[in-house]
Amino acid sequence: MNTVNDNVVADVNTTEQDRPLITLALSKGRIFEDTLPLLAEAGISVAESPESSRKLIFPTSDPYLRLLVVRASDVPTYVQYGAADIGIAGKDVLYEHGKEHPGGLYQPIDLDIAKCRLSVAVRRGFDYEAAVKQGARLRVATKYVNVAREHFARKGVYVDIIKLYGSMELAPLVGLADAILDVVSTGGTLRANDLVEVEDVWPVSSRLIVNQASLKTRAKYLQPLIDAFAKASQK
Ligand code: ADP
Ligand code: PRP
Ligand code: MG
Repeated sequence: MNTVNDNVVADVNTTEQDRPLITLALSKGRIFEDTLPLLAEAGISVAESPESSRKLIFPTSDPYLRLLVVRASDVPTYVQYGAADIGIAGKDVLYEHGKEHPGGLYQPIDLDIAKCRLSVAVRRGFDYEAAVKQGARLRVATKYVNVAREHFARKGVYVDIIKLYGSMELAPLVGLADAILDVVSTGGTLRANDLVEVEDVWPVSSRLIVNQASLKTRAKYLQPLIDAFAKASQK
C-alpha cells in the first residue's frame, strides 16, 4: 500500500529519471581550453582534463551534462547523428562538413573562440598572382578539400587538390604542392617554414552547433545551456 511519503519519493524519482543527460561534443586542445571559461561562466566545471586522461567521456559538475572528446573534424558528425546534442566546432570544419552532409545542424551562436583565418600560402618567391593571371594549373594541398574547390572555382583558377591531414606547410617545401589552404593565427608556422600568405579567404571562429531533433525534444534543458553560452561568449 502506498503511503503519502512513498508517492512523494516516487514523483521525485520519476522526474529525475525523465530528465535527459545532455551530451556536448568537442575536441581537446584549444577548443576545450577556450570552452572551459564559458562553462565556468555558466557555473559548470570539469574535474578531469582530456589532456591528461585517455577517457573519452567526461562528467561535469552538472549531473545532467557530459562531454564527449572527439577529433575536431568529427564533432559535426556526432551532433548531426544525435550521438551528441550539442557541439563546438570551427567554421572551417563546419563549412567543410556541410558541403558533404548538408542540413541537420543548427548554429545558434558564434562563440568567438579559437579565432584564426583561412588563408592561401605559398613559398616565398613563388609569384602566385602571376601564376593565377597566366591561368596556370595550381597544385593545392589542404585538409579543406571542399572549401578549396569552391574558393578556386570562384576565382576561376584551375587546381589539383591534394588532400592532407596535417602539416600542410610542408607540402610546398618539398614540391608536393604550389600552395596550401590552411588556418593561420599568429603566422608563426608560415614564417618558420618560409611561406607567405597570399590570400585571406575568411575569418574563422568556433560555433555552438545543435542537433535539430534534440532542440525540439529537449528544448527545456538545452535552451538554458544555449542561453548560458550566448551570455558567456558576449563577455
Ligand atoms: P585539429 O587536430 O583538427 O587540427 P585543432 O584543435 O588544431 O584540431 O583545431 C580545432 C579548430 O580550432 C580548427 O577547426 C580551427 O577552427 C581552430 N584553429 C586551428 N588552428 C588554430 C590556431 N593556430 N589558432 C587558433 N585557432 C585555430
Ligand atoms: C594549426 C594550423 C597551422 C597553425 C597556424 O596547426 O594547421 O599549422 O596552427 O597557427 P599559427 O599561425 O599561430 O602558427 P596546429 O597547431 O593545430 O597543429 P596540428 O593541427 O597540425 O596538430
Ligand atoms: Mg590543428
